[in-house]
Amino acid sequence: MKNEKRGEFKSNFGIMMAVAGSAVGLGNIWRFPYMLGENGGGAFLILYIVMVAAVGLPLVVGEFLIGRATHRGVVGSFRRLAPGKPWVGIGYLAIVTGFTILGFYSVIAGWTTRFLTEAVANNFANQSASEITTSFNGFVQSGWQPILYALGFCVLCAWIVGRGVERGIEKFNKILMPSLIVLLVLLALNSMRLDGFSAGMEFLFKPDFSKITSKTVLDALGQVFFTLSIGMGVMITYSSYVKRDENLPRSKAIVAVIDTSIAVVAGIAIFPAVFTFGIAPSEGPSLVFLTLPNVFAQLPAGYFIAIAFFAMLLIAAITSAISILEMMTAYAIEEFRISRRAAIVYISAGVFLLAVLSALSQVKDLNISLFGLNIFDFLDTLSSNYLLTLGGLFTALFVGWAFDVKLLRKTFTSNGRYSVGFYRPFLFVIRFVVPVGVAMIFLSKIGIL
Ligand code: TRP
Repeated sequence: MKNEKRGEFKSNFGIMMAVAGSAVGLGNIWRFPYMLGENGGGAFLILYIVMVAAVGLPLVVGEFLIGRATHRGVVGSFRRLAPGKPWVGIGYLAIVTGFTILGFYSVIAGWTTRFLTEAVANNFANQSASEITTSFNGFVQSGWQPILYALGFCVLCAWIVGRGVERGIEKFNKILMPSLIVLLVLLALNSMRLDGFSAGMEFLFKPDFSKITSKTVLDALGQVFFTLSIGMGVMITYSSYVKRDENLPRSKAIVAVIDTSIAVVAGIAIFPAVFTFGIAPSEGPSLVFLTLPNVFAQLPAGYFIAIAFFAMLLIAAITSAISILEMMTAYAIEEFRISRRAAIVYISAGVFLLAVLSALSQVKDLNISLFGLNIFDFLDTLSSNYLLTLGGLFTALFVGWAFDVKLLRKTFTSNGRYSVGFYRPFLFVIRFVVPVGVAMIFLSKIGIL
């Protein structure tokens, strides 16, 4: 039994980069394009942006209020604000969701690492689009290779989170986030030179509303939750480390704008290439991995750009994965009074086990599936479309209806210092717009509405 001191972020820039680092991840660069591609393009983008503003941002703020009012992890905070009430279930749901997300996230991060090594070895330069596809499939179908890379990723994240909040999480995010943005913008600019530029832009920005179904709407909602890191208490945990008063709604709006812009810029970088190299937009999770190497192969300094890109993507994945790991670690330290190190070892072992299952489920010969989906797709869909959205629905209901109103107002405005005028609209949105909106999307998906 060791008594761990609670960590704390030291600077406002550090907090902002840590929150942005959690939000910006594989969700923006890997998941967003593949979701958009599967859901027919521009119309999905519009739905997504509307939901970021109407549901996503209010929930980021809502989670921040919970963590800031309690300075506890995801289970402890609900217990403190509503002792003896079932709301604490949101915290346990978050822990389950954390495992399901990291279970496939670490596999994709493993793919990224593999592509990084390919880039370093200069293997894309002399491969055609179909050769790139073949070699990617060989890698995934081997089973053991993705597992090995996922293991490496888990160990790395465990090491960073083991260093604690200021020395690990804050420090890494501050350097890595800004570099990622610069590189992505360069890649998007390069897209203008590609033959498929106008086809890609049309796909991304020209909405075809006939493509919208209840699946599209739920997918867009799930993507909003996934990309903003909401619905499972990561923001609760991060805000519990913030000691300084900051203008909460403003700084979170900035993060939402950064996160959304990065997804759109990633779309601009990727879709023109998708059309140039004859890849199907609805290709699925492998979309980015099959598309971009072709772009790099064509570029003058492609060798270096490929390395930089996959390094950045890996970094984005790390800064996100460590936020989830930190959420679970904080919970374990608080609840079981174990050391940070012990907590990380147990949790990472669990995550790795799930990663093995999801990597193996992609091997066609093995035929491992659950409810007709391979475990990988199952974890992806289950966590984003159902677990996160449910967690978010209950969190909104909690903040709107169960949180002590005086404390809520005080926390929202930093004691009357900031954003007083935004408080009422926020309360309205978190009480009515978010719960009703999310509930309606669920009901229409099940076919009741
Ligand atoms: N937002 C991250 C991404 O886009 C993933 C992520 C990190 C996440 N923390 C989360 C998703 C918490 C849901 C909840 O890659």
